[in-house]
Amino acid sequence: MVHGLVTSPLRPLVAVTGGAGFIGSHTVDLLVASGCRVVVLDDFSTGKRANLARWADRERFGFGGSEPSVEVLTVDISHGLFSALAPITAQYGRVERIVHLAAQVSVIHSIANPMTDERINYGGTLQVLEYARASAVRKVVMASSAAVYGDVSEFPVDEQAVCHPVSPYGMHKLASEHALHYYSQVHHVPTTALRFFNVYGPRQDPSSPYSGVISIFADRANAGRDLTIFGDGEQTRDFVYVGDVVRAVVGAVLTDGADRALMNIGTGSEITVKELAQTIVELTGGKSTIRHAEARAGEILRSVARVERAERLLGWKSQIGLRDGLAQTLRG
Ligand SMILES: NC(=O)c1ccc[n+]([C@@H]2O[C@H](COP(=O)([O-])OP(=O)(O)OC[C@H]3O[C@@H](n4cnc5c(N)ncnc54)[C@H](O)[C@@H]3O)[C@@H](O)[C@H]2O)c1
Repeated sequence: MVHGLVTSPLRPLVAVTGGAGFIGSHTVDLLVASGCRVVVLDDFSTGKRANLARWADRERFGFGGSEPSVEVLTVDISHGLFSALAPITAQYGRVERIVHLAAQVSVIHSIANPMTDERINYGGTLQVLEYARASAVRKVVMASSAAVYGDVSEFPVDEQAVCHPVSPYGMHKLASEHALHYYSQVHHVPTTALRFFNVYGPRQDPSSPYSGVISIFADRANAGRDLTIFGDGEQTRDFVYVGDVVRAVVGAVLTDGADRALMNIGTGSEITVKELAQTIVELTGGKSTIRHAEARAGEILRSVARVERAERLLGWKSQIGLRDGLAQTLRG
């Protein structure tokens, strides 16, 4: 249980950038369940309206009624938030808190297109922070990533490790963390950065070859197709269930503490990709064959989080074990 989860009788208005995405839509669900009104800002580049379908009935769920409510705006956040949010705040009052999840999410794409990655991932964060500064937002929580660490040699990896990102994606997440710190220190915008490890769960899109490995394996195993491991499969990852991740996000954004904090969000346990594939094959009735392809250049061989800081600062700890999380993911 996250400490300090506030369910204000005034139903705080929370903006969620990237709210139509995988983690974003689960965040919206938990915010609404926690008594918030939510405005989603998304350009639908990878997000889907179907992820928010349960909130689409505006007649019933429109702001101002007694029911929980979600408003969806189609916006490219790298162009700024002011004009998009103006009609909402004029009608419903100010945005009190922001969860910033919108991002160009492919590491491979960022290597091929570093400028686009900078515009969306670093520029988008600056746009969110400028809005927060001008509008006296009470808390900004941003999705950072384990990619900020790059190739480290000590495990589990600690938040104090020296970061040497090995992709523009990791670089711009790290730059965004610095921006959060600057806006907090100089402009008094309370901020928290959460470094997600490998997040998985229902609604993760398996359609791109660079999607999360669990979504790809789950999709293929459910269809009885082969699973391909790049390299020998001995590389490890710290897979954290999306339901756990959004408890951390919502706890952090609704709590007026942990300002300027930055923390790992993982389980503290690692599993090899080979073991992961074997578990998924077993859970789906053993129909798929595991194959190996050439290792991907630059792939990180080991990743596991030290998790004590999130427990100390947010009272957060992952609760869903990998087998349970996989079973829920395979059910869809
Ligand atoms: N999934 C993971 O394992 C993982 C790990 C570390 C960090 N993260 C971070 O978590 C956040 C959410 O990722 P996700 O896995 O849910 O991916 P996702 O692709 O499902 O979500 C990203 C969302 O941002 C939206 N978006 C992209 N560019 C935008 C723009 N310019 N303006 C407005 N909206 C835009 C997309 O349409 C999508 O809805 C991202 O910031 C990502 O970098 C994810």
